[in-house]
Amino acid sequence: MPFLGEIKMNICNIKNVAVIGAGDMGHGIAELCALNGYTVYLKDIDQKFLDRAKNRIRESLNILARKGKLKDDNVETILERIIPTLEYKQALENCDLVIEAVPEIMSLKKSVFVKLDSILPKSAIIATNTSNMSITELATQTKRSSKVVGMHFFNPVILMKAIEIIKGDNTSSETMKFVEDFAYSLHKLPIPVLKDVPGFIVNRIQAPSSVLLNKIIEKKIATPNQIDANFRKIGQPMGPFELMDYVGLDIYKHGADYFAQKIDPEFKSPKWINELIDEGKLGKKTSYGIYDWSSGRPTINLEDTTENVDNKDILLVQVNEAAKLIEKGVVEYPGDIDIAIQNATGNVSGIFWLLKDDREYLINRLNSIADEMGIEIFRPIDFLKEMPFPSARKALKARKKKRRE
Ligand code: 3HC
Repeated sequence: MPFLGEIKMNICNIKNVAVIGAGDMGHGIAELCALNGYTVYLKDIDQKFLDRAKNRIRESLNILARKGKLKDDNVETILERIIPTLEYKQALENCDLVIEAVPEIMSLKKSVFVKLDSILPKSAIIATNTSNMSITELATQTKRSSKVVGMHFFNPVILMKAIEIIKGDNTSSETMKFVEDFAYSLHKLPIPVLKDVPGFIVNRIQAPSSVLLNKIIEKKIATPNQIDANFRKIGQPMGPFELMDYVGLDIYKHGADYFAQKIDPEFKSPKWINELIDEGKLGKKTSYGIYDWSSGRPTINLEDTTENVDNKDILLVQVNEAAKLIEKGVVEYPGDIDIAIQNATGNVSGIFWLLKDDREYLINRLNSIADEMGIEIFRPIDFLKEMPFPSARKALKARKKKRRE
């Protein structure tokens, strides 16, 4: 659990934070910052979005208060630290750090970046909560690319511990350090992402497994409920299809189509998901998606599992994608990948335990999946043969040592 009242002024001399966009992610980021003592300007384009955000924050703070997790603060004093506004000028003119959390549309984000750069003090840092898109490309819209960085939170922000801190091509090491310190001050776990690749770590690794899962549905090998029940059975808090609904099918589609454009067309969002979106069924936020959310979290029939799908296959394509990231030098320590997955999604085991199986067998299995599904992105990369075991324990130890120095 994040926070809890002991930090009033912070370790990185930030007084004011601005959050642009008060939706699912923006309202959670604003709540988290206020909870940890920061004054937050929360900017959106319509009063009704701001009012909704404030209500959601109040509800969440009430839960924390009931559990005795606010320590010296109370709900009202935390809420007072959040200043809703429709005006960029009010949000930005005294701001040290802005976190952009508007919808995942590159042209929209670019226009917001131009605005931010023109109003913010010269010294301020611009962080984007984009799920997948290029930090470097967004930074071109500003005259401060060394101060532009990715800060990718996970939903629900208040509960998920990881934040990916993404270095754009021109982000300075000072900016990386500043934002990592800021993440620690929020009682979160920053995971540095050293190369600006589409999807960064967690979303990137989940991307090929979503392709496989969608293919399984299209080929009628199993149903979403059966797959989700399989994953719940091994202790995951949500199965992959419930998670898609939870995050939003529109968000999923933006990501998939971005990967299709930037990495390989095989990542494209499938027809059956696009059809749900066209019907206005976006998941939790519209009450309907793959599941019915109209009475709260959908009921997954946990008895309705399937033997047609081996959970290990789904994780195996993630391991192969993880190997690609390690080979490219995207992570500081290879074990960071398991740490990111565990702390961003609540998957307690991570994925690398699979590598304890015979490596030759795993490589052959990946080739069989690629052949059976007719999808080339599942082919094992050569590096997978020789990759040393990425130890999360070693990564945590190295990080702790670095922080002490
Ligand atoms: N504020 C404060 N506390 C809250 C809360 C909130 N908004 N929402 C829930 N809680 C508390 C509840 O009170 C409960 O506490 P308790 O255990 O002490 O009773 C606890 O959190 C769990 O909540 P629920 O009982 O309501 O629900 P679940 O047990 O079903 O947990 C969940 C919900 C935390 C969402 C869990 O299912 C989960 O971890 N799912 C996986 C989420 C995930 O993978 N997120 C990453 C998505 S990817 C992403 O965000 C990237 C982006 O780019 C798209």
